[in-house]
Amino acid sequence: MQLIDGKKTAAEIKDEVAAEIALLKDKGGKVPHLVAVLVGSNGASITYVNAKIEACKKVGMHSSIVRLNDTVSEKELLEEVAKLNNDKDVDGFIVQLPLPKHISEKKVTEAISPQKDVDGFHPSNIGKMMLNLPTFLPATPYGILQLIERYNIETNGKHCVVVGRSAIVGSPVANLMSRNSYPGNCTVTLTHSRTVNLPEITRTADILIVALGKPEFITADMVKEGVVIFDVGITRKADSTKKSGYKLFGDVKFDEVAPKASFITPVPGGVGPMTIVSLLKNTILAAKGKME
Ligand code: GUN
Repeated sequence: MQLIDGKKTAAEIKDEVAAEIALLKDKGGKVPHLVAVLVGSNGASITYVNAKIEACKKVGMHSSIVRLNDTVSEKELLEEVAKLNNDKDVDGFIVQLPLPKHISEKKVTEAISPQKDVDGFHPSNIGKMMLNLPTFLPATPYGILQLIERYNIETNGKHCVVVGRSAIVGSPVANLMSRNSYPGNCTVTLTHSRTVNLPEITRTADILIVALGKPEFITADMVKEGVVIFDVGITRKADSTKKSGYKLFGDVKFDEVAPKASFITPVPGGVGPMTIVSLLKNTILAAKGKME
């Protein structure tokens, strides 16, 4: 079994991104600027946004946070989005999800300029991804692709089973793994909560991508020997023995599943750190005007 070290790979990619930004500076070009919009005080969202801003600092990218109260109206948030769309100093921005119930995430996502949509969530960018046209790939699927490449994992002709059909991870990663190029060329099965006999299907997976949000859902009896596993799940559970006050759990019961796997991502330190470098890479593309 080989552990896929997302933390180490992300650090290597951050070094590459930092070198690219230094080069842009040397050439007198502008330093890319990423803005994160954070609404309310959801603990996980604050952690994620802080990690994204920290990563920007580390690679020499400009970054800022727009913090809005959770009582902000949908109209006010849409005005903020319009402001960022028109701000020439901003290359890319994200609106951290989830948003408070009274705000339509769909409306907000659609209001973001596709050229600045470094999350890759805008319908026109998702459409481009489906057609294999140049666009911003959603951060988590893009992070998984980069891990596959860097660990030289064979994907041609393999059966890739995706568990979870979210718009952010499951659906796009299923599409990307079926593409006619590496990493891809898989036969893909996209499974979800209505799937019948899920263990029968997951047991046939050569590559298993789990993005369900159910801690330790995948058990040893659900996978075959030699499987490659990407665990996207990350659930916090209160734990008073931890300094942070919580412990993180993936969607895979790591201790019993890992011995059967040929490659597996841990939680934390697997897919998570890669999503942030994907965002940095997308912001560089945006700053270079590659998606216009
Ligand atoms: N919430 C959970 N993951 C993400 C992400 O990748 N982008 C944004 N904007 N919100 C999220």
